Amino acid sequence: MGKDLYELGEIPPIGEVPRQMHAQLVRPDRYGDPEKAIQSEVIDVPEIGPHEALVMVMAAGVNFNNVWAARGVPVDVTKTQARWGEPTDFHIVGSDASGVVYAVGEQVTNVQVGDRVVVHAGQWDHDDPWVTAGKDPGLAGSFRVWGYDTCWGSFAQFCKVQAHQCLPKANFLTWEEAAAPTLTGATAYRMLFGWPPHTVQPGDVVLVWGASGGLGSLAVQLVADAGGRPVAVVSSDQKGEYAKELGAVGYINRKDFSHWGVPPKWDAPEWKDWFAGAKSFGKAIWDVLGEKTSPRIVFDHPGEDTIPTSIFVADRGGMVVICAGTSGFDTMVDVRYLWFMQKRYQGSHLFNDEQAAAFNQMVIDGKVQTTLGTVYPYEQSGHVHQLMGDGELPEGNVGVLINAPKEGLLDLP
Ligand SMILES: NC(=O)c1ccc[n+]([C@@H]2O[C@H](COP(=O)([O-])OP(=O)(O)OC[C@H]3O[C@@H](n4cnc5c(N)ncnc54)[C@H](OP(=O)(O)O)[C@@H]3O)[C@@H](O)[C@H]2O)c1
Repeated sequence: MGKDLYELGEIPPIGEVPRQMHAQLVRPDRYGDPEKAIQSEVIDVPEIGPHEALVMVMAAGVNFNNVWAARGVPVDVTKTQARWGEPTDFHIVGSDASGVVYAVGEQVTNVQVGDRVVVHAGQWDHDDPWVTAGKDPGLAGSFRVWGYDTCWGSFAQFCKVQAHQCLPKANFLTWEEAAAPTLTGATAYRMLFGWPPHTVQPGDVVLVWGASGGLGSLAVQLVADAGGRPVAVVSSDQKGEYAKELGAVGYINRKDFSHWGVPPKWDAPEWKDWFAGAKSFGKAIWDVLGEKTSPRIVFDHPGEDTIPTSIFVADRGGMVVICAGTSGFDTMVDVRYLWFMQKRYQGSHLFNDEQAAAFNQMVIDGKVQTTLGTVYPYEQSGHVHQLMGDGELPEGNVGVLINAPKEGLLDLP
């Protein structure tokens, strides 16, 4: 007879599922700063359905969506997860995990108990007519982000996932290295290779905002691996040097410019100052390259602060691809640049199974580094998300040890 509850770092025999678990929860009545909103509680381990798997989490990756979930904006995540029949009084954060499969539903064929896996965050209804018709599940009406739009995320001893989310863990990575890159890396993969004909080609210049951060540090590597020329934008020389180590041809320090945000109206006298700022930023890209070539792809996620500049500097016929609005959502598009220069402004969100698997294979093949920066203990889950929300995390992706008892552990003790 197994135990009802294991302490953190205490590994149950493989396949033995306790009744309860420790988990980092947000609740609607404490939405706000992540430090206070995300708290550890003991709750029941969830039941799994026929297409699902239960994964014992060794390490979890820190992502900005957990910050949004903790703040309760722009959406109340407990209201979203209600759509899938999940609990409405709490939400377990976390959309990246590495761990071991402890149980599978009766319809599951792709993984079995004991498999070491990483979990990607794309979920959808397996019987969604869009999906069964063979179309991109990333565009399905039932598409959702596990651990953000759904309840049972990775900051818990056990997480409930759809079995297709499980991918093989690279066996040379520690648990925390393996947990760090999948959400950001596979998102970057869709942004850079999912929107033909604007996929990265040899020689293409790609401007990467936040190039030392979660998305950006992996985007730089994906562009370089495809033979493109990533130009990094960062806020310090230290971060710029880090981006260069990952493959950027050079970097621009955005602190050298001040024209950010929504520009003045096109016919206002102040617009000229904005235009001068945008032009000198464009020149800085050419200075990095040593030639007058503009980006065929601009990889954007800050949103409000950067989109007017991104659209201005993209090359004729180029694409600005965006997956977030970290600095705000009221982006302004001067359509003159869009139509006259026939540019494309493309939204992108997460990824599908093929894109996640392609990115994971690049990790397994050693083509991208997981860019794990710092590792925190389970008890500091709220604190690390506070640092992320305040923009105070150092370079790279961040991992949190859940059941992995100590850093650097390659497999179960
Ligand atoms: N839709 C999706 O599928 C998806 C998937 C993953 C992430 N996201 C979202 O993408 C965003 C970034 O995620 P991340 O993991 O890369 O976060 P991150 O690790 O915090 O990195 C974001 C980087 O953006 C830069 N940045 C922040 N504010 C900026 C501003 N006002 N102007 C220019 N650059 C700014 C910062 O770099 P510097 O200070 O060095 O410039 C920062 O390092 C978040 O909002 C996240 O929720 C969306």
